[in-house]
Formats: sequence, C-alpha cells, structure tokens
Amino acid sequence: MAIDICLAGATGWVGCSLVKAICGEQDLNLVGAVSRTHAGKRLDDVIMETSSDVSISGSVKEAFIQKCDVLVDYTKPDVVKSNVLEAIQNGIHVVIGTSGLSDEDFVQINEQAIKHQVGVLAAEQYSYNALPS
Ligand SMILES: NC(=O)c1ccc[n+]([C@@H]2O[C@H](COP(=O)([O-])OP(=O)(O)OC[C@H]3O[C@@H](n4cnc5c(N)ncnc54)[C@H](OP(=O)(O)O)[C@@H]3O)[C@@H](O)[C@H]2O)c1
Repeated sequence: MAIDICLAGATGWVGCSLVKAICGEQDLNLVGAVSRTHAGKRLDDVIMETSSDVSISGSVKEAFIQKCDVLVDYTKPDVVKSNVLEAIQNGIHVVIGTSGLSDEDFVQINEQAIKHQVGVLAAEQYSYNALPS
C-alpha cells in the first residue's frame, strides 16, 4: 500500500528534487504540496519535468483537507514548528528536514507526538562527510 505524502516547501530548492523523487517511487504517493507563492497552481505547471496534477496549497492546514499519512517539511524556521504541530494534531506522521528548531521546540514536539501517538523523524542535516582514511 502506498504512503500518502504532503510536501511543505514543494517549490523550494530541496522541495523540487523531492517532488521528482517521490513521484518516481511506486510506494509513495504525493497528494499535497505547499507554497504560498504558487498556491492554486498545479505542481507540474511550476516544476519542470514533473508529471503531477496535485494542486498547490498556501498552507498545510489547507493541504490537510486531502487525507495524507506523512508531512515532509522543507520550509523555513519561522513556519516549520507550526506546520509540524498542525500535522501531529491531525494524526499525521512527520519528517522534518527544515533546520532552525530549538531544543525547547523539540521538547514540545515530542510531547505532542506522544500525546497524539504519531512518529516524528527530525533530520535537519542529511549530508554525510566521510572521514579521511
Ligand atoms: N535536512 C537536510 O539535510 C537539509 C538540506 C538542505 C536544506 N535543508 C533545510 O531545508 C529548508 C529548505 O531549504 P531550501 O533551500 O529548499 O529553501 P527554499 O529554496 O527557500 O524553499 C523553501 C520552500 O518553503 C516554502 N515556504 C517558505 N515559507 C513558507 C510558509 N510560511 N508557508 C508555506 N511555505 C513556505 C517556499 O515557498 P513559498 O515561499 O512560495 O511559500 C519554498 O517552497 C531550510 O531550512 C534548509 O536549511 C535541510
């Protein structure tokens, strides 16, 4: 069964690559995309070399009208926390790629995740530097 994903920051530098990656996987289903600038447009009208008829929403709250299993967030430090809490309160699991959350933010997110029984994966830095041998 495919996992339904909503991607916040879908039109950004990371988001564009993620749209292509998600659309290329059979077990992932992109059902929502968030960007204020492009709200109301189709994703494939905004991102080249993509075939997705998903309509872009201006906020995660609007995007969650369409049911999804996981929110993936690559937005900005000033909005990521509210996006994550909105998802948790709707019973949606979260992958956080956005940097800038504080220790206090993570304490609050953890409390809410436990309360609502959802999983949150926070990986603000996926890059990998090999140590010299
Ligand atoms: N985990 C990692 O390894 C990794 C790697 C690279 C980057 N990052 C982090 O990922 C985040 C995104 O980086 P980026 O370079 O892709 O940024 P970017 O190119 O500026 O893209 C940001 C995206 O978020 C959207 N956005 C911004 N504010 C929003 C708001 N208030 N409501 C809804 N959407 C909003 C933007 O669309 P609109 O402006 O149209 O709303 C855009 O789609 C940053 O925090 C960066 O540090 C993490």
